[in-house]
Amino acid sequence: MMTALAPAAWQVARGEASEAESYSELYGRCFDASWPAADFSAYASDPGCIVFGAHAAGHLAGLIVCRCAVDEAEIITLAVANESRRRGIARALWERALGELAEKGVARVFLEVAANNEAALGLYRTLGFEEVGVRRGYYAEDAQDARVLAITLRD
Ligand SMILES: CC(C)(COP(=O)(O)OP(=O)(O)OC[C@H]1O[C@@H](n2cnc3c(N)ncnc32)[C@H](O)[C@@H]1OP(=O)(O)O)[C@@H](O)C(=O)NCCC(=O)NCCS
Repeated sequence: MMTALAPAAWQVARGEASEAESYSELYGRCFDASWPAADFSAYASDPGCIVFGAHAAGHLAGLIVCRCAVDEAEIITLAVANESRRRGIARALWERALGELAEKGVARVFLEVAANNEAALGLYRTLGFEEVGVRRGYYAEDAQDARVLAITLRD
């Protein structure tokens, strides 16, 4: 079993546009897809978006990007480097984002996750998300279904 890192071994900080290359590089390591640094730069500069990164040993080890629209928000992406998983980093990233979402008055948060992504489904279940729908064949690369999950922050 992996030993949890002491909390001081990694820190969560707001993502800056200047870090976009690191975000793009980490995203490419976590998914079978690339995401241009310019997109991360745009999200980090957008007041309607929330971007946080987890830093461990001087490296970006995790990231979360959320986008808000009036009283709803979407987790656009959440990922943790393979070697840093199961240490509570995704949970910590979500909790930081959650604090800001609540401050912004967001009532409900949505996301899409591949139906075969057991790790992400396990995480979101633990965080209190519930399934609210399915998008059939949503992912172009393998026609995998997407499960739509949501969590209510306030009525
Ligand atoms: C999903 C992902 C972000 C989880 O990151 P993580 O930092 O390992 O997650 P945490 O350590 O914060 O886990 C918190 C809880 O989520 C659940 N969880 C996390 N990974 C899990 C797994 N592989 N299987 C089952 N449950 C899991 C557990 O309840 C865990 O608590 P525990 O470790 O005390 O049992 C990570 O596996 C990842 O980056 N995967 C690839 C990218 C991805 O699929 N992102 C989600 C796209 S929607």
